[in-house]
Amino acid sequence: MKTINMIVNGRPVSQTVADNRLLVDFLRSDLQLTGTHVGCDTSQCGACVVHVDGKAVKSCTMFAVEADGSEVTSIEGIAEPDGTLSPVQQAFQDYHGLQCGFCTPGMVMSATALLAAHPTPSETEIREYLEGNICRCTGYHNIIKAVLAASGQDVSALPAE
Ligand code: FES
Ligand code: FES
Repeated sequence: MKTINMIVNGRPVSQTVADNRLLVDFLRSDLQLTGTHVGCDTSQCGACVVHVDGKAVKSCTMFAVEADGSEVTSIEGIAEPDGTLSPVQQAFQDYHGLQCGFCTPGMVMSATALLAAHPTPSETEIREYLEGNICRCTGYHNIIKAVLAASGQDVSALPAE
């Protein structure tokens, strides 16, 4: 067991956890931040992506103790404090970038990290970056469109679906 301290969605958190407690379980079960999803638990689907010190991380691949001292942002911390959606969230809503929504938190977190590093990625770059995020509803077209729109690029040339 180890006591860890981190900033989660802007708030300080201190808790004693088992050495093998996964970050995703710490977020979901200990902090009740259930917006981060578990689709596979084997680092394949990307539903569990959060930001650790600004980098997109599959939280099922990281122990909570490894995030000790870090700043963690989950999907619950992406919108403004007054509830205003982030540009990526808003674009997912505007361009129907979700169907069942299960993959959406991970998609939004990955896309947000991509745009922070590369503000105007090409369609190909977006597709490559999101390779680690699987949508079992297969709604990839509108997801890509939403990310392009969130980056301020013209999506009018892309087909509706
Ligand atoms: S739950 Fe982490 S990659 Fe699928
Ligand atoms: S919207 Fe259903 S898994 Fe992606």
